[in-house]
Amino acid sequence: MTVSLVGCGPRQNLPTPEQPIAYDHQVHIEAGLECVRCHRGAEEGVHAGMPSVQACAGCHRREIPDHPEVQKVMLANENREPILWAKVNVIPDSAMVHFNHRAHARAGVECLTCHGDVASMTVAAPVRNVADMGWCVECHRENEASDDCLACHR
Ligand code: HEC
Ligand code: HEC
Ligand code: HEC
Ligand code: HEC
Ligand code: HEC
Repeated sequence: MTVSLVGCGPRQNLPTPEQPIAYDHQVHIEAGLECVRCHRGAEEGVHAGMPSVQACAGCHRREIPDHPEVQKVMLANENREPILWAKVNVIPDSAMVHFNHRAHARAGVECLTCHGDVASMTVAAPVRNVADMGWCVECHRENEASDDCLACHR
């Protein structure tokens, strides 16, 4: 199946939420890490998920442990406190919409198509509102994916 890149469309001017730690995507992608290393469900799960503090700390015991932003990670790990990353892309629970990462990965829709070029971002910024039925349905119709109400609403 070839999926057309209606994708993000023109970039929408949405605010980027502030994050508790200055994590930088580009630095980590350049260091060779893959998206699924941290977002473990992005290809095989419903939710992409966020990395645990232990996952960050395990590597940063060796990598620049004295960097001030990394020290915040190490402290959270010692105190067994989670890092409360602000949500960037979200469909509110109240919408009762089922979104599924796995279905899209299997159909060959790339992260880039919906999230923009995160690999060259510092902080992950929203490129479009993902809680937008018109956008979902338009791509589904163009790619012969289901536009049945019950595919997305239950
Ligand atoms: C080393 C771990 C790590 C890797 C590798 C990583 N990310 Fe992230 N990602 C994070 C963290 C931490 C955040 C939250 C901070 C931020 O927004 O920058 C995040 C946030 C995001 C978000 C926004 C989450 C939300 O709430 O909507 C998206 C989308 C995302 N990443 C996509 C990607 C993609 C695509 C790749 C591969 C090109 C990738 N990430 C690689 C750690 C990682
Ligand atoms: C597998 C190893 C690995 C993991 C896992 C990892 N990092 Fe990193 N991180 C690196 C490397 C390598 C660098 C670049 C080091 C350098 O500049 O020499 C880096 C750099 C950083 C920096 C400094 C960024 C800058 O501006 O230069 C921060 C902050 C950071 N990481 C936070 C995190 C957080 C938070 C997580 C978990 C979400 C994480 N890292 C997971 C390897 C890792
Ligand atoms: C078809 C569009 C689409 C594709 C392709 C896609 N995402 Fe998402 N992503 C979304 C939507 C929509 C949400 C919000 C889901 C929600 O709120 O339930 C989301 C949420 C996320 C989040 C926030 C955490 C979570 O689990 O909700 C991360 C991280 C993320 N995506 C990473 C990725 C990565 C990495 C890829 C590629 C492997 C990817 N996404 C592919 C649409 C997409
Ligand atoms: C860029 C194109 C694109 C966008 C945008 C998109 N989808 Fe999809 N979606 C697909 C494709 C392609 C499939 C796979 C269809 C198949 O396997 O037959 C799919 C599959 C699905 C499935 C699984 C359907 C099933 O019957 O198994 C659900 C649920 C779904 N999408 C929900 C959404 C929602 C909700 C949104 C918006 C938040 C969205 N999609 C945005 C292309 C897209
Ligand atoms: C491909 C996925 C998808 C399909 C198919 C779909 N919807 Fe939606 N729907 C969504 C998303 C995403 C939202 C946005 C939720 C939000 O606003 O937060 C939504 C929102 C809605 C809303 C809330 C009102 C609004 O616009 O804010 C209604 C009502 C609705 N859909 C009805 C339907 C009906 C009826 C059908 C069948 C004709 C349908 N939907 C098919 C994904 C889908």
